[in-house]
Amino acid sequence: MAVTRTFSIIKPDATRRNLTGKINAMLEDAGLRIVAQKRIHMTADQAGKFYEVHKERPFYQDLIKFMTSGPVVVQVLEGEDAVKTNRDVMGATNPADAAEGTIRKAFAENIEANSVHGSDSDENAAIEIAFFFSGTEIVG
Ligand code: CMP
Repeated sequence: MAVTRTFSIIKPDATRRNLTGKINAMLEDAGLRIVAQKRIHMTADQAGKFYEVHKERPFYQDLIKFMTSGPVVVQVLEGEDAVKTNRDVMGATNPADAAEGTIRKAFAENIEANSVHGSDSDENAAIEIAFFFSGTEIVG
């Protein structure tokens, strides 16, 4: 298996409850290294573009509202098969389906306010990383 990168967001429900450190500890315990990180307040334009793939879904407008409701922490994570490693530690999108020991089981409030986002493929990871970070901001 190769060392790869993935993109992660600690969402507004988690920053509001001051959970950034606890979530980062779970990411690191899963074997991921945080090689870039910044706390930002997304604009509606940024959130709309980032989640454009969901624009026909009924939850799209609410999702934009939620993602711009407070600060988020955007991150680049590096590790063995980073996309899968991160998805495993995040748990299922809906916290009701998330396994014990996952971030969403521990912290997510509901299917929307689900504490973290993680890329679903290496291809999307590259796109999502480039959306928020320049090459010089990532220090492996
Ligand atoms: P995320 O992994 O960031 O991808 C899309 C987001 O939309 C998802 O996490 C949730 O925050 C939000 N969302 C809200 N409702 C749903 C739903 N019914 N199915 C999937 N995602 C949803």
